[in-house]
Amino acid sequence: MNQGLSTWGWISLAVAWGAILGLTIYCFSRVLLAKKKKDAGLPEKGGRAHWGSRIGLILAMAGNAIGLGNFLRFPVKAAANGGGAFMIPYFCALLFLGIPLMWVEWTMGRHGGVHGHGSTPGMFSLLWKNPVAKYLGALGIALPFTIVVYYNFIESWTLGFAWFSGTGKYFGLTTRDAMGHFLRGFQGAEQNAFFSSWLPIILFFALTLAINYYFLRKGIAKGIEVLAKIGMPVLFVFGIVLAVRVLTLGHPASGVASVNEGMGFMWNPDFSQLGHATVWLVAAGQIFFTLSLGQGIINTYASYLREKDDVTLNGLSTSMTNEFAEVILGGTIAIPVAVAFFGVVETKLIAQEGAFNLGFQSLPVIFQRIPLGQIFGAMWFFLLFIAGITSSVAMTSPAIAFLEDEFKWKRSKAVNAVFAVLAACAVLVVAFFRFGFLDELDFWAGTFGLVVFATIEIILFSWVFGVKKGWEDMHQGADLKVPGVFKFVLRYVTPVYMLIVLGAWTYQEAIAKFLMKGEEKFRHPYLWGARAMFVGLILVTVLMVFLAWRRRKGEKETV
Ligand code: PHE
Repeated sequence: MNQGLSTWGWISLAVAWGAILGLTIYCFSRVLLAKKKKDAGLPEKGGRAHWGSRIGLILAMAGNAIGLGNFLRFPVKAAANGGGAFMIPYFCALLFLGIPLMWVEWTMGRHGGVHGHGSTPGMFSLLWKNPVAKYLGALGIALPFTIVVYYNFIESWTLGFAWFSGTGKYFGLTTRDAMGHFLRGFQGAEQNAFFSSWLPIILFFALTLAINYYFLRKGIAKGIEVLAKIGMPVLFVFGIVLAVRVLTLGHPASGVASVNEGMGFMWNPDFSQLGHATVWLVAAGQIFFTLSLGQGIINTYASYLREKDDVTLNGLSTSMTNEFAEVILGGTIAIPVAVAFFGVVETKLIAQEGAFNLGFQSLPVIFQRIPLGQIFGAMWFFLLFIAGITSSVAMTSPAIAFLEDEFKWKRSKAVNAVFAVLAACAVLVVAFFRFGFLDELDFWAGTFGLVVFATIEIILFSWVFGVKKGWEDMHQGADLKVPGVFKFVLRYVTPVYMLIVLGAWTYQEAIAKFLMKGEEKFRHPYLWGARAMFVGLILVTVLMVFLAWRRRKGEKETV
């Protein structure tokens, strides 16, 4: 039954890698050749902060997009939904949803920034002169904030596991079962002999929050950009080293299959899967998640552009950098190595258990079986930590920008306030983790929420503001002329595709999830608690938007 890469597998792999590599090289050669712009446009209202350099901006945006989703979520979804055949709905979603929305969010963001708004309430009200617009925009603060509350927690596991790998703490726990207990003991989800208290998890979590705080407090060019300029090269070097290590494993002596079979599992296409609507939905969901779309966070980063800075070439370059990290690196590391050591049947089971068990439970077993496993293990988890932190600072940014721009708070005050709320919410996530609190937030904010928000965005941009004006705005200062067919795509394909995806998600997933189908009774109160926290955060944001606009009206009247 086991088999290596088939002819169709090779073809899928070659086409996908070739397209991504080709486009990435094309983008970066154009970035390097582009002329420096002297006239950067008029100074923005309120003297907002700016990115320090173009390469810094691209790395920061790529860091925003490249996250745990690339290395854990993608391989699991691809392997479970048709392997090489998954790349067909995946690339359709990239072309018709991902890249157009990326340009929309960049354009909206730059436009907002020029007018003094770094978050979506202000951006939406510029596109749609209706009092409701700003309240819809509140979601672009509440969603990423809700996600970052639990995302930071997961990020702290990666930091912990980087340490445990480097020091060999779990070495000796050679089965997945034992590693599972170790993981749950660390997370505080289970009481066992490996961790006698919650102290380690609290320490790593506090450290993670402190590092996030440090870079956010330093600001855009001196904080976020510096983090990306150091982090991204390290991430790519580690990723390439790990991918090469996996590809050169052959048939490991302590394994059960060859890496070629692992690549076959990942890439041999199962075209029959394309008939299932879910596969198309999963692909669209993965594109939003991995490109950080439908969250308002690309918008916030783009608000620190100057009026005539390019958005088309930069937007495409960051998307392709993300795809390189996802398809080429992410697709080569975790799943193929799992097949080599556990075999196809068990890898399928692991993939069903979800992305976290693959990353934190199965791979540590493998690190114990390869030479220099401590080092490779530390590299893997540190790579995940960098991927995580460059995304989590992005998700925290809309709330900070909102307080700075709309309430005129100093950055330090805004960062302090946001972290105070963040820490308070995080306590709940840690305390109730074992009852499914995190997963519940992840569904509503991180899966369903981004589809809802992306739909609102594209409708506002394409149908309310209008593609004609939007296209002009997008091409202001552009280094890349987008092919004219994308006007048609933006006007019809993306919005309709989004509405179908949203409708299908609501029908297939959201209703059953809302009714808590299949959830054990004792968990229900905690799941309601998670929902209450999410709704509470949305309501607080809506209230803040109301106060900010009332304040501004008052100001206008006094001048
Ligand atoms: N895009 C990042 C990732 O792949 C982080 C992210 C996920 C951001 C979901 C927003 C929403 O992990």
